[in-house]
Amino acid sequence: MDTSDIRERALGAIGAAADAAALDQVRVEFLGKKGELTALLKSLGSLAPDERPAAGAAINATKEALSGAIDDKKRAIENEQLADELSADTVDITLPGRPRGVGSLHPVTQTLRRIEEILTVAGYEVVAGPEIEDDYHNFEALNIPAHHPARAMHDTLYLDNGLLLRTHTSPVQVRTMENREPPIRIICPGRVYRKDDVDATHSPMFHQVEGLVIDEGVSFADLKGTVVDFVRRFFEKDLGVRFRPSYFPFTEPSAEVDAQCVHCSGKGCRVCSGTGWLEVMGCGMVHPNVLAMSGIDPERYTGFAWGFGADRLATLYFGIDDMRNLFENELRFLGQFA
Ligand code: DAH
Repeated sequence: MDTSDIRERALGAIGAAADAAALDQVRVEFLGKKGELTALLKSLGSLAPDERPAAGAAINATKEALSGAIDDKKRAIENEQLADELSADTVDITLPGRPRGVGSLHPVTQTLRRIEEILTVAGYEVVAGPEIEDDYHNFEALNIPAHHPARAMHDTLYLDNGLLLRTHTSPVQVRTMENREPPIRIICPGRVYRKDDVDATHSPMFHQVEGLVIDEGVSFADLKGTVVDFVRRFFEKDLGVRFRPSYFPFTEPSAEVDAQCVHCSGKGCRVCSGTGWLEVMGCGMVHPNVLAMSGIDPERYTGFAWGFGADRLATLYFGIDDMRNLFENELRFLGQFA
C-alpha cells in the first residue's frame, strides 16, 4: 500500500503548524480516532490476506514517522515560545536587591543565656522541671500547705485534671532535692504562669530563675556574697545591694534584695520611682521543713535559695519600660537588641 501521499501532506501540515493548537489539529486529522491513517488501518480487512502484512507495516511506519515529526515540532514550538518569553521579560539588573532580614535572639533569651553563663562559671548546674506541676511540688513541699495565706499570692491556673501550671520555678528545687544528695548547686530557669492581667509589669506567662545551694555549713553570708556578686555581674556595674527582711514560706530567714537603680545609680529617677533602689529578687535560707520533706537531713545540711523574674531583669538591663514589648513579637522592636 502506498502511504507516501498521506505522509507528504501530513509532513507539510506539521511543518506549517504555527502553534501548539494548530499542531494538535494536524495530529487529530491524521492520527486521531477518525483520522486518515486510522481509517486506512481499518480498511486493511478489505485487502487480500497476503497483501495485509506489507500494507500494515507501511501504515505503521508512516504512523511512527508522523508521531516523531509531531513530537519534534512540538518541542520546536515550545522552545520558540520560551525564547520569546525570555526576550520579552527582561530583568532590570540596576534595581536594588530586596534585603533579607537577619534574625536575632529575643532579649529574654539573651538574658537567660547571660544568667546561665554567669552562674555556670560560678559552678552551678542548669536543671529543668515540668511546667505542668502537681500541688505537692508547687506548694505543699515548699511549706505552703492547703489554706496557707501565701497561696493567695499565687493566682494559680489549675487544669481540669487537678494539676496546675507552676506559679514559680521553686518546685524544681524540690524535685532536685528528692533525687540528689548534697552538695547541690543548681539554677532552674523556666516559664511560670499566673492568672495575672497584662500590663506594663505583668504577664500571665513570664520567666523565673531559681537558684539553690545545699551543703554542710552553708550560711547566710554565702547567700549574701553570691547574690551581691551575681547582681553586679549581671548589670555590669558596681551597684549597691541591700537585703530587706521578708517572708517566704520555704525560707527562714527570708529577704528581699534591692539593687541600686541601674539607670540613675541610686540618685532617684522615673525607673526607680525616685527611690534610687530596684527590687530584684527574693531569697533566704532553705526552711528545715522543706529540706526534711525532700529527704535531706536538716541537722546535717543547710542551704540557701533565691528566685527572680528574668523578664524583669531583661527590661532593667536593656532599658525597656513596658514588659508587654517582650511578648508582642514586634520584630522591629525586638531587632534593636541584636
Ligand atoms: N518563688 C518565689 C516567687 O515566685 C521567688 C523566690 C523567693 C524563690 C525566695 C526563692 C526564694 O528560692 O528563696 O515569688
